Amino acid sequence: MNTNCVIRNVNEHVGETVTIGAWINNKRSSGKIQFLQLRDGTGYIQGVVVKSEVSEEIWNNAKSLTQESSLYVTGIIREEPRSASGYEMTVTGVEIIHLTENYPITPKEHGVDFLMDHRHLWLRSMKQRAVMVIRAEIIRAVQQFFDGNGFTQVDPPILTPSSAEGTTNLFHIKYFDEDAYLTQSGQLYMEAAAMALGKVYSFGPTFRAEKSKTRRHLIEFWMIEPEMAFVDHEESLRVQEKFIAHVVQSVVKNCRAELESIGRDVSKLEGIVAPFPRITYDEAIEFLHGQGFDIPWGEDFGAPHETAIAEKYNTPVFITHYPAGIKAFYMKPDPNRPEVVLCADMIAPEGYGEIIGGSQRIDDPELMQQRFEEHNLSDEAYQWYLDLRKYGSVPHSGFGLGLERTVAWICGLDHVRETIAFPRMLYRLYP
Ligand code: 4AD
Ligand code: MG
Repeated sequence: MNTNCVIRNVNEHVGETVTIGAWINNKRSSGKIQFLQLRDGTGYIQGVVVKSEVSEEIWNNAKSLTQESSLYVTGIIREEPRSASGYEMTVTGVEIIHLTENYPITPKEHGVDFLMDHRHLWLRSMKQRAVMVIRAEIIRAVQQFFDGNGFTQVDPPILTPSSAEGTTNLFHIKYFDEDAYLTQSGQLYMEAAAMALGKVYSFGPTFRAEKSKTRRHLIEFWMIEPEMAFVDHEESLRVQEKFIAHVVQSVVKNCRAELESIGRDVSKLEGIVAPFPRITYDEAIEFLHGQGFDIPWGEDFGAPHETAIAEKYNTPVFITHYPAGIKAFYMKPDPNRPEVVLCADMIAPEGYGEIIGGSQRIDDPELMQQRFEEHNLSDEAYQWYLDLRKYGSVPHSGFGLGLERTVAWICGLDHVRETIAFPRMLYRLYP
């Protein structure tokens, strides 16, 4: 049997007979009529089988269909204003491909562990599909923004001899006789690429052996890392806010149906336009003290702090100028106040936490050498990185956007586990 249509395109086939390859999402029957809730990955449509209008064989085939059985369904497409999709199919043929027995994920409620154990099937559900569609739109919008603004995409390595973001959460592997690590961030390589190409960005998987089991942490997550030569901290913030506003508005424009289908309040996303508010770390500490938090200057913010700060705003907010001691070795000190660095975290609204970490980078070779020593980083592994400061060093800045946290925020999900097809989490490697 050949298919000649997908559900997404039924609007182009009104009045025609089409054949679609589909699965049964759900089924209802009223004795003389069966209503097949069909899905094919591109969308959903109801197929109506009327007993008096089909052969006994087709009627019985339809009757035998169970949840997640697969079939070729043939029928006439009609406009149907009462249905969510606006269309319906009057079924004239049912060819069963595979009859499913005892599909584990029934329409009733299931616990999270059960769903995670069945992630390979859970992905078929309406909400999970919508999230994957929105994730793909976010990636498309990310690439559209950077490709349209003079950036070149560069792919940094995944196997690395050194760490980019501290040595505590590295995944160690053997690289023949050498030690290697799965990348925590492509940044250092992107700095080299920026010196070759000016404005670059990467999009790839990153790995952190984080022992923290929170709703914001994955072990394997995807990062978008732009790096820009001749761009200072201030200009980098302007790129970041325009970038995020573009991504959010692209999703609002192209995925409104998916957002609404998962219950997202789209009006909150419509308000995400640049510029975003900025507060310094010092101001944030002062604000937190006023809110009753007992956090000393010099300590990093945790999720409750970030959420308290974010609650003041309807858009993402930048927290800038963190103490050097709690930030990465490569961040450039503020020339007016060297105990803080020219950096910013972008905190998403509605309690979704930090989505971007970025900074201007140290461009002075001596200061960089000093930082290697302070952070106990073997200068051997980082010689190439020092070279970037030795040969035509320039001011440069960059940042990293965590894709899964961005998906969680835009979709309004309480946990990052639903933002990626097969999440790798603490104590979860299956499926
Ligand atoms: O703030 P981070 O650690 O910054 C860097 O890695 C820089 N090298 C980026 C750069 O300047 N090129 O991570 C960047 C972002 C975070 O803001 C967060 O959104 C996400 O990556 N992230 C995680 N997302 C999911 N699970 C984790 N374990 C994450 N760790 C960081
Ligand atoms: Mg960070």
